[in-house]
Amino acid sequence: MTPTTLTVNGAGHALNVDPDMPLLYALRNQLGLNGAKYGCGLGQCGACTVLVDDKPVFSCLTPCGGLQGKAIRTVESLGSAERPGPLQQAFIDAQAAQCGYCIAGMLMRAQALLERDPHPSEATIRAHMATNLCRCGTHLRIIAAISQVARTGEQHDRQG
Ligand code: FES
Ligand code: FES
Repeated sequence: MTPTTLTVNGAGHALNVDPDMPLLYALRNQLGLNGAKYGCGLGQCGACTVLVDDKPVFSCLTPCGGLQGKAIRTVESLGSAERPGPLQQAFIDAQAAQCGYCIAGMLMRAQALLERDPHPSEATIRAHMATNLCRCGTHLRIIAAISQVARTGEQHDRQG
C-alpha cells in the first residue's frame, strides 16, 4: 500500500492504495463514485471510461500509481439526476439508455470529444465512440444524442 492523493472531480482524496490497483476500484470502492462500471476489465467495452487530464481512459486498466497530480473526472462531474448537464439531457431526450450500464462511459468519452471539438461531424463522433460498446444496442440513439449537442453547440461545464 502506498499513500496516494487522487484528484477526482476537483477534490483531493488521500488514499492508501496498491499502486497497481485499477483506478476503477478506487473510484467505486473507496470514493463511492459508482457511475463508471466494470464491464470486461480488459479494455474492450468502455463501461469504465473516465477522463484523466481531459483524455478518456479505461479506468479498469489504469493503475492508481502515476495518477498523482492528474485531474480525474467521472460522470458525476457532468450533473446529477436532479440537474443533468447538457450532454446528459441530450441522452435523456434521445432515450439513449436502455439498461444504462454503458452510459457513464459513453458520456465521458463523448464529453472529451465535445470539449476538444464542439462541433464534430457524425463521422467523427462515430469514429471517436467506436471503442465503447452498448450491448443493448442503443448506439444509434447515443450517436443522435451526441450529434444533437454538437449541432446546438451548448457549453460543456468543466469541473475538476
Ligand atoms: S471494464 Fe474497462 S474497458 Fe471494459
Ligand atoms: S444501455 Fe444497456 S449496455 Fe448500453
